[in-house]
Amino acid sequence: MRVLLLGGAGYIGTHVALDFIERGDSVGIYDNLSSGFMKNILPESTFYQGDILDAARLGEVLSIGWDAVVHLAAFKAAGESMTNPEKYSINNITGSLNIIIGCIKHNIKNFVLSSSAAVYGEPAYIPIDEKHPTNPENYYGYTKLAIERHLEWYSNLKGLNYASLRYFNAAGYDSNGRMTGIERDPANLIPVVMEAALGKRKLLKIFGNDYDTRDGTGVRDYIHVSDLADGHVKAVDYIVSKNKNLTVNLGSEHGLSVLEILNESRKVSGREIPAEITARRPGDPAGLIASSSKAKKLLGWKPKYSSIETIISTTWAVYKQ
Ligand code: UD1
Repeated sequence: MRVLLLGGAGYIGTHVALDFIERGDSVGIYDNLSSGFMKNILPESTFYQGDILDAARLGEVLSIGWDAVVHLAAFKAAGESMTNPEKYSINNITGSLNIIIGCIKHNIKNFVLSSSAAVYGEPAYIPIDEKHPTNPENYYGYTKLAIERHLEWYSNLKGLNYASLRYFNAAGYDSNGRMTGIERDPANLIPVVMEAALGKRKLLKIFGNDYDTRDGTGVRDYIHVSDLADGHVKAVDYIVSKNKNLTVNLGSEHGLSVLEILNESRKVSGREIPAEITARRPGDPAGLIASSSKAKKLLGWKPKYSSIETIISTTWAVYKQ
């Protein structure tokens, strides 16, 4: 198959590229390198530098001919999306429309979207399945929901097949050490813990220890990026072979608290990792855990790398370099 990965040089995209290449697909990577890693673009793929807001350049690359596109080119900082929504409207929504319209124009039938558990908002129940109401609490989550809705319209009106993959908390690195790009100025827990372990930042701020969880700190469903990557390959196969759409959660179905992540990181790194309890971060729910039974049933997908040990050890292996 010929697969174009938009945002394929980013943290998740590089792992997705690896899986498609490993099974012998022909992979193109379209990325503006704003946060992507040139060093992780595998020689087996073809790299096209470009921005999803540059419709002419995008059209040129889409016109080459692809069986499917995987769209991973988005901003993802929920907090920032509340103070600078314009950035998210333009890149996430306008950029996605450019891709969708480009696919229609160039007769590309299959579209996989990197979506997010952020579409659900504050959980009404746990585990969260795909029938859970969608009430995003931040503008970032709204942009993902808006793109899902556009895909639904374009599917009905123009026959586009799509898969929307609602990731929970992406974490970890390729266990063979092939991907080593690290995020600049991270805000997510695990990269922040890693920087504190290295002394790159003074300490980890634990955002609240008075939640109704087993140790009072926030609980999340961390899903290994290699498991996410496998979900993309399976989703492409599903929509291509069945000529059907798909919306599924990708999560490990178990929760880890901030303290559990911190303690495992101390153990794996052998470093002290200073931490202090601070106020809650606005908008943070106590716990988020996925039900992924739909992905398991429809795709035959099953997480293999999402234990806390593998997530933290593969991440530390990259950071300690
Ligand atoms: C966040 C976004 C989510 C987005 C995801 C992708 C929110 C509410 N959610 O998920 O929409 O898809 O990132 O990047 O913003 N924590 C600390 N100290 C820190 C950082 C985090 O204690 O320095 C805690 C948080 O309170 C939370 C857990 O660690 O309990 C995970 O936080 P984080 O990694 O930021 O992910 P989410 O907030 O779950």
